Amino acid sequence: MTAYLITGVSVVGGEPTDLLIRDGVVAAVCDGLAADDATVVDATGLVALPGLVDLHTHLREPGREDAETVESGSRAAALGGYTAVCAMANTSPVADTAGVVEQVWRLGREAGLVDVQPIGAVTVGLAGERLAELGAMADSAAGVRIFSDDGHCVADPRLMRRALEYVKAFDGVIAQHAEEPRLTEGAQMHEGEVSTRLGLTGWPAVAEEAIIARDVLLAEHVGSRLHVCHVSTAGSVEVLRQAKARGVRVTAEVTPHHLLLTDAKAESYDPVFKVNPPLRTAADIAALREALAEGVIDIIATDHAPHAVEDKECEWAYARPGMLGLETALSIALDVFGPRWDLIAERMSRTPARIAGLTGHGVDPAPGVPATLTLDDPAARRVIEPAELASRSRNTPYARMTLPGRIVATFLRGEPTVLDGKAVK
Ligand code: DOR
Ligand code: ZN
Repeated sequence: MTAYLITGVSVVGGEPTDLLIRDGVVAAVCDGLAADDATVVDATGLVALPGLVDLHTHLREPGREDAETVESGSRAAALGGYTAVCAMANTSPVADTAGVVEQVWRLGREAGLVDVQPIGAVTVGLAGERLAELGAMADSAAGVRIFSDDGHCVADPRLMRRALEYVKAFDGVIAQHAEEPRLTEGAQMHEGEVSTRLGLTGWPAVAEEAIIARDVLLAEHVGSRLHVCHVSTAGSVEVLRQAKARGVRVTAEVTPHHLLLTDAKAESYDPVFKVNPPLRTAADIAALREALAEGVIDIIATDHAPHAVEDKECEWAYARPGMLGLETALSIALDVFGPRWDLIAERMSRTPARIAGLTGHGVDPAPGVPATLTLDDPAARRVIEPAELASRSRNTPYARMTLPGRIVATFLRGEPTVLDGKAVK
């Protein structure tokens, strides 16, 4: 195993120092290190973060390998500074059995670029009617701990209650896609001034807020863990704030796009901006940013949602919802929060690793810990070119935007997955 000497690096925003990686772990962190056998990485001006952890990634394999594979999504993740991703269950077939989650987990191991932790479906076929084999998925080689019907809401309150009860036995988590389906029938974008003007059917904020309010009460009643996917409204933040103040075991995520882009993007009728939940208003963005800084929202998760050209480059009403996220998330976080490195490490690595129970991830580089980290150049500026992304899909909402930061290197247990800004394999 090659040793790496990373010189002049700022560890999570601290004073520049040297960092030696040997035998898969951080062997030393201090000034003036030397190691004859090590490959030197000049990291002057770079910041080392614990490898990023994405709690919400769509990898599309099995079923839509034209849009993404476990391998292409893993490569996109590594290039974005990630060392672990949780793969959502809405594949084809759905990841609702031990067999499918083990397949995804094994493909992740074979790709070897990030740790791929499968998420299991809550209900059979995501149909919202019968609980899937949660126990079998938990006991499988994939060791599933997070279950989600993401893309669909577990709308039936009795089923949601049963799911929360079931996973309590092994400290599992139900990750809810909060969308009351009766309130979003035919919805095309956020319900508000812009949807009225464009004449598009609206997706009201209350459809999200009502489910979160219900589910925090259910989680409280059962004493189980709830995670809320892609929180998008100011009202949801208030529901979460109250629930957390009462001690409910709830965590929540926000996506990079909900922290940056507003519903005004729909005026272009460019389906690249169609996403579920939809882009909201500037007031929602302000509330989400504040909630993330405070910790009412625990983490940034990408909801990386690759879609093939024919599913995305068509009329708005027919386009699938979803946006790429893995290769741009850290840049958006830097754009929104500036160099608040401790906040970024907390919200993009330490806390998501803890929620997902991923040992060896989310740990700051220090002597003896796994060398699972990423190096970012905050002074770099890059223009996002969709054709240059590693994802098999092209649906980034940031095309041709100039974003701050660039991932220079990523290490997974001491092995580089990215060096000089390029994937190693
Ligand atoms: O925009 C979205 N795309 N939201 C979801 O909940 C699902 C996702 C997908 O699978 O494409
Ligand atoms: Zn999703």
